[in-house]
Parts: sequence; structure tokens; C-alpha cells
Amino acid sequence: MAQNTQLLTLNNGHKMPMIGLGTLQASDEALEAALEAGYRHIDTAPRYGNEKAIGQVLKRWLDSGKVKREELFIVTKLPLTANAPSDVLPIIKKSLADLQLDYVDMFLIHMPFTLMANEDGSIKKDEQGLMIPDLRTNHAATWVEMEKLVAKGLAKSIGVSNFDQEQVGRLLKTAKIRPATNQIEHHVYLQQRELVDFCKAEGIAITAYAPLGSRGLAKFTASLGLPRELPDLMDVPEVTEIAAAHRKTAAQVLLRWIVDNGIIAIPKSANPERLRQNLDIFDFKLTDEEIAKLVKLDENFRIFDCAWIHGAESHPEFRFKNKFTN
Ligand SMILES: NC(=O)c1ccc[n+]([C@@H]2O[C@H](COP(=O)([O-])OP(=O)(O)OC[C@H]3O[C@@H](n4cnc5c(N)ncnc54)[C@H](OP(=O)(O)O)[C@@H]3O)[C@@H](O)[C@H]2O)c1
Repeated sequence: MAQNTQLLTLNNGHKMPMIGLGTLQASDEALEAALEAGYRHIDTAPRYGNEKAIGQVLKRWLDSGKVKREELFIVTKLPLTANAPSDVLPIIKKSLADLQLDYVDMFLIHMPFTLMANEDGSIKKDEQGLMIPDLRTNHAATWVEMEKLVAKGLAKSIGVSNFDQEQVGRLLKTAKIRPATNQIEHHVYLQQRELVDFCKAEGIAITAYAPLGSRGLAKFTASLGLPRELPDLMDVPEVTEIAAAHRKTAAQVLLRWIVDNGIIAIPKSANPERLRQNLDIFDFKLTDEEIAKLVKLDENFRIFDCAWIHGAESHPEFRFKNKFTN
């Protein structure tokens, strides 16, 4: 099946599909439906607890010849409980075993901060139930081990996630291989223009997570006893008006706006129709006036403020500032 999206050429020459499938809170049926719809870029992480399930689906598709390995773009991440230099090789080997792959296309440092872990990898808590920052975080030293993965052929590209401008700049001072992407929260309400412009100027592609505003997050935080009012980006009048004018959906407008900015988006959906919709964004064009309206929506509103990671905020590399919550 043909690749169903535009490709962005990364700073190392590899090509990354500009729409990928987010798999946080996703089912394996969703992955099957996504591959059928034409998705070839899959974003996962050990913390999403689905690498084994994804691996089983990928193996079926690869074994049946429905897809070739080189057509896929698989992203996974180094978890925030295991991002010391000595963790890098064992963690990617475990992910590769679970995904049943010989290499990933992109391996990211998931978070710039580190939390202490129990022996089973779960997050360790103190007597008050607070997570415990691990202050030994050293991005430059971890990056050296990330670079070795490229030399070993275990990751085609390496990158970071949730790094702010200062953290990216600091890493660039010692990196031999520049990060290929910085995966950050990015949508109309949190545009992070300075960080985006800085990364682009340094040749680092931006990958937008929560591009549709992550409706599922409110359910997740409520389940933790942290109810939070989150805006519904697909119900913002400016967005729905633009969608109506083009006979497209609000999700399609939000995604087209991101991709037109040269940014990769990884929307998650478990619904076959919405999966197809999220890929079908190239048959209309936003006008300059519409783009200006969307740009004006920026509220610096961070949905993933990590408020549920109690204790992490005292880590010096924790940078999840939200003008509404911090
Ligand atoms: N690096 C990081 O720290 C980080 C953090 C968060 C997320 N991520 C990655 O980014 C991915 C995307 O973020 P996200 O899953 O939080 O949020 P998202 O993609 O912004 O939103 C997903 C939500 O939107 C709904 N949806 C999807 N397409 C739709 C459409 N066309 N119309 C209406 N509703 C639609 C989905 O519901 P249905 O499933 O019912 O369609 C789901 O509730 C994640 O899955 C994960 O891979 C990375």
C-alpha cells in the first residue's frame, strides 16, 4: 500500500512521514486499522505499555509482505526512569525485542528530567507518595550512548522530546550527531514559536504531540483524582468555522495547519474513520487569513503540564511551565 502522507527530510537525509500514528492509550486494533488506512509512521514508548502488541501487528504485516520494513518509520523512546548513559543500550534492545525489529527509525530521550525507578522499572515514590527526582541526569553523557546506537545500526536517527530551547542548545554544544527531531506538545493553543523557530534554524525537525488537544488526557488525569478542565480544540469557533468553509473537519484543519508549518504531527485515534480523516488533509489549502486566525489562538496553554508527576517539579531539568498552573 502506498505511503499516504508527505515526507519531511531530516538533517541526516532520512525521510519521516509528516503524519504519524500516536499510540498513547491506543489499542492494537487501532494499529491494524491505521496500517490499513496507510499510516507508516508509528510513535510509541515503553511507558505506553504497548510495544509488544505493536510488535505482533508489525510482524504479521511484515511477514505477509503487506508492508516492507523500509516503508515503516517506527519511533520509540528512552524512558524517564532509565535515561542514564548505561540504560541506553539495554533499553533499546528491550524495545527492539518487543517490537520484533532489528532497528528503529527514531529513538528519542523521552523527557529531559529523570525519576528514580523500582527494580521492575515502575516509578519509585517516597513515604509521602511523591516521585523522587534522580539528580544524576546528564544529557551530554546519555547522548554519547545514543550516538553509538546510530553507529551500531540500532537507530537510524536519534532525537529528544520535551526539551526546551536551553536544553537543546546545551546538547548541541557537545553533540557529534545533531538531534533529528524534538518531539514537543504543539497545537493552536500551545504554539511554542520561539522553540520551534530555534529548532528549525538548527536543522532539528519538530514533531507535534497532542496535535488535536489530547481529549483522552482529561479522562486520564480524572482517573488519578486530578480533574482538570481542558479546552476542546476541535470545538473552538475559529477552527470549526474554517473547517466548515472547506467542508473538512476541525481535526483536519488543526493537522493541516501544523503540517503546513513544516511540522510533523502524530495524532492518535482508535477509530478507523477518524484515522482515515487524519491522513486526508492534503486536498484543501488554508488561506493566509485563516492561518492568521489560527496563529492568534495561541494561549501558551500546556495540556501535558505533568502535574500528575508529583515530585518531578523539583528536578532542575523539569521545564513544564504553564501560565495557568505554574
Ligand atoms: N513525547 C511525549 O512526552 C508525548 C506526550 C503525549 C503524547 N505523545 C504522543 O503523541 C500522540 C498524540 O497525542 P495524544 O494522543 O495525547 O493526543 P491527540 O492526538 O491530540 O488527541 C487524541 C484524541 O483525539 C481524538 N481524535 C483523534 N482524531 C480525531 C478526529 N479526526 N476527530 C475527533 N476526534 C479525534 C481521539 O479519540 P479517538 O481515539 O476516539 O478517535 C483522542 O481522544 C500520543 O498518542 C503519543 O504517541 C508524546
